[in-house]
Amino acid sequence: METLEIPEPIRERCRSARRAVVFSGAGVSRESGLDTFRGAGGLWERMRPEELATPEAFRADPGKVWRWYAWRWKTAAGAQPNPAHYALVRWETLFPAFHLITQNVDGLHARAGSRGVLELHGTLLTARCHRCGRQRDMGEAIAASPEKPPACDCGGLFRPAVVWFGENLDPEVLSQAQEEAARCDLFLSVGTSSTVYPAAGLIELAQRAGACVIEVNPEPTPFSRRMDLCLGAPAGVAVPFSPRRSRAAG
Ligand code: APR
Repeated sequence: METLEIPEPIRERCRSARRAVVFSGAGVSRESGLDTFRGAGGLWERMRPEELATPEAFRADPGKVWRWYAWRWKTAAGAQPNPAHYALVRWETLFPAFHLITQNVDGLHARAGSRGVLELHGTLLTARCHRCGRQRDMGEAIAASPEKPPACDCGGLFRPAVVWFGENLDPEVLSQAQEEAARCDLFLSVGTSSTVYPAAGLIELAQRAGACVIEVNPEPTPFSRRMDLCLGAPAGVAVPFSPRRSRAAG
């Protein structure tokens, strides 16, 4: 896999970047003890997404889905941000324009101090009524009803405010993310398998915009060959590198 060396031309492009976008996935939270979805030990290697993360699954067995997300909420609540999360808080101060776009629903970026995080796939921290859309705190909803989704006054059921397979992303969040990817000059893709769309399409938008596109992932992805640079290391090692220095910390 690639070294952590930042070649001079890439370093120069990082140094001169005015608009930076970071696109993150489950791998960023791996070193916080949270599972990824794919790859060795991933959630979808052990569980069937069609039985847990689809509107059909919620209709068929709301209790099973609710208990699974309650477990995921508890593991996320018990986890701590890691050096990659904190490094990205610093990145925010290094560029005139910076946007952090995540597929993660664990809230660890915001807990580390990142501001204005675009959560493409929603959040585990909020529950939403599947009928009227009313929202409430997920932790409080789980405490009130640990075994099955609590009912809403409208007669609907509360569900985690995440985007399930087959559901549309929030159009406002998606279009803002696409806009930023299409006009950035530095794009860091970290901890994602880059296989889930429309999220992975952001990488293509950044490449089409002529941005310097860097990937941080211990494993290759479908985009690795088309990256300007691949750092084949864990996010907690690679991301703390300052885009202004030649050698990655670690
Ligand atoms: N640092 C960086 N990357 C890592 C690390 C680490 N410490 N550990 C694992 N990875 C990489 C894996 O090699 C893998 O390519 O993180 C990636 C995680 O990929 P996925 O599990 O597919 O997660 P993600 O890309 O975020 O999934 C996208 O799919 O299941 C849905 O909605 C869910 O948001 C999720 C979406």
